[in-house]
Amino acid sequence: TGDTSARKLEHLKMIVSSKVESRESTLLEYVRIVHNPTPEVNLGDVDLGIDFCGGRLKAPLVITGMTGGHPDVEWINRELASVAEELGIAIGVGSQRAAIEDPSLARTFRAAREAAPNAFLIANLGAPQLSLGYSVREVRMAVEMIDADAIAIHLNPGQEAYQPEGDPFYRGVIGKIAEAAEAAGVPVIVKETGNGLSRETVAQLRALGVRCFDTAGLGGTNWIKIEVFRGKKAGSPLEAGPLQDFWGNPTAVAVMEARAAAPDAYIIASGGVRNGLDAARAIALGADAAGVALPAIRSLLSGGRGATLKLLRAFEYQLRTVVYMVGERRARGLWRAPIVVWGRLAEEAAARGIDPRWYANILRLE
Ligand code: FNR
Repeated sequence: TGDTSARKLEHLKMIVSSKVESRESTLLEYVRIVHNPTPEVNLGDVDLGIDFCGGRLKAPLVITGMTGGHPDVEWINRELASVAEELGIAIGVGSQRAAIEDPSLARTFRAAREAAPNAFLIANLGAPQLSLGYSVREVRMAVEMIDADAIAIHLNPGQEAYQPEGDPFYRGVIGKIAEAAEAAGVPVIVKETGNGLSRETVAQLRALGVRCFDTAGLGGTNWIKIEVFRGKKAGSPLEAGPLQDFWGNPTAVAVMEARAAAPDAYIIASGGVRNGLDAARAIALGADAAGVALPAIRSLLSGGRGATLKLLRAFEYQLRTVVYMVGERRARGLWRAPIVVWGRLAEEAAARGIDPRWYANILRLE
């Protein structure tokens, strides 16, 4: 009904305008990319284009999946997708479960493809749905619904545990993702949603054929926090205590872990990436691209399409200037730029058996 429809947008606005980020940081502040005062390249020589999960991006940026599934949010997918189209970057839609259950909602996702005929477009389904019975059929339906270039399978065990109506069902999940990866017809991107991938998860899934990952680490949007906040309004007794700020693998650690576990994978660094320097630092740690969710939707809801375009252009320009100031021409040149990993991030990486110097040597440069 129109009522529910209005509520859905209100609901999204409430999330986007509240404090929904972790107090814990991404730990990206513990990466210093060494400045080169004699870079021997011109700013105009820099080309940020990358190959990515079987496609091509003009800049290593992804607007990660957020919405769809309700008539009132269709315009959000359309506007975000048109920004991605203009910039030549990748974009994901939110979970398509609603449209698998009610095909009349498919257009709220399809709007993204209509607005972005050429952009790298990422479909989206949740891992719990796979555990609960979705199979290759639903995965293909989601891909075909929007003519997607890839499909993200999102992992959100924390969110499901704190969502009053959640589905905290993860038994069998790895096998189901492997089946999906084999038969989806497009690359599968395994993503977290704000608590971060781990070395063990990435290693297992890589061994089973998954080649694309999105870290969605701790330090940005936190779904445990959002669900507790929403639950309180609905009278839920669930309290997360420190988990809503401190549970998870910080983005910088998650990127290092993912890269150590899968040297040949495509890795999106996301979760609290808030500017082009964050993006550059994450790429210097071994990611292929950086992803953003909350800032993209926040800017759209507060300032319209122009604000989102401006924000992402700033990301792109900052990243471009960093590549230039380390004397490289390509985004992946950041993989060989000297970096200093210090403080807590250095300790965490060491504790997890990761030395950024050795994995940087095995990465493929373009
Ligand atoms: C999300 N995210 C998300 N992820 C997913 O795989 N499917 C989804 O449906 C959604 N929905 C969603 C809605 C909103 C409003 C936000 C802000 C986020 C998670 C998102 O893709 C990303 O992984 C995290 O938000 C971390 O990135 P940021 O927000 O810290 O940049």
